[in-house]
Amino acid sequence: MISLAKSFKKKGYVIINIKDKSFFKKIDEEINKSTILNINNYKKFSSKCIELQNKIYKTKHHIKVLNDNFTDIKKAIGVKSKKELAITTFVHFRGVQKKTKRGKRKFVGLHRETFYSDFDYTKHQINISLPIQNYNKNNSLKIISGSHKIPDKKILTKKLSSFESGVKKFSVDHRLGLPYNPKVIVSGINTSKARRTNLKTGQIILFSAMLIHGNGSNNYSKPRFSIDFGLIKKKYLKGKKIKDHSHISYAKNKKYWSSL
Ligand SMILES: [Fe+2]
Repeated sequence: MISLAKSFKKKGYVIINIKDKSFFKKIDEEINKSTILNINNYKKFSSKCIELQNKIYKTKHHIKVLNDNFTDIKKAIGVKSKKELAITTFVHFRGVQKKTKRGKRKFVGLHRETFYSDFDYTKHQINISLPIQNYNKNNSLKIISGSHKIPDKKILTKKLSSFESGVKKFSVDHRLGLPYNPKVIVSGINTSKARRTNLKTGQIILFSAMLIHGNGSNNYSKPRFSIDFGLIKKKYLKGKKIKDHSHISYAKNKKYWSSL
């Protein structure tokens, strides 16, 4: 079997089966306790997502998942200790309602993180995503395996306006991780190669910020939920000027990264 480190390098991602699944049960309970599953109105649904996002960050369950599975994580990304890593001071709780005929249910299209950052260190970021509810082989994160190796300069994108995307800067949608000026891939990548990861609840995916990914529309009858956050090796942040995103940070100092 190919090692975690080799797989991460070659494909740009690894999927890990997590050890203690109590985390998912707790988040499940929070979702079920909230009224979100009965909400159809998009605005109300998004506000509820923010509420849940706040709760999830406060409970720090995502840190527990990292700690519980650190043996596999460190092998995959090539670190010896948590001290070498920084973590984003936010989590995104992504709720995507089922696709409607009007197609107005918002999701993130295919992209890599450097589409939305001018900073050189962004290419070293490692994204982590945890499916929570309603993930299956037809309804999970889309990726293009190995696409992390394609240089930025080979990819041509077209920027959509905030009006076209329907996402305003600093809005609820923006705080939930939707770009207000999304970029659409025009050339340089064969987007028909994008495949669903078949990620299921109880698994986490770690992937390079350079891997082309997107959560795609929700083809299931119920809303789909996941949690996302990021890691980076601290050595890539050293001496770099970091632009902080105060509207998404939960840290008191509003910094984008903190020590793990
Ligand atoms: Fe992303």
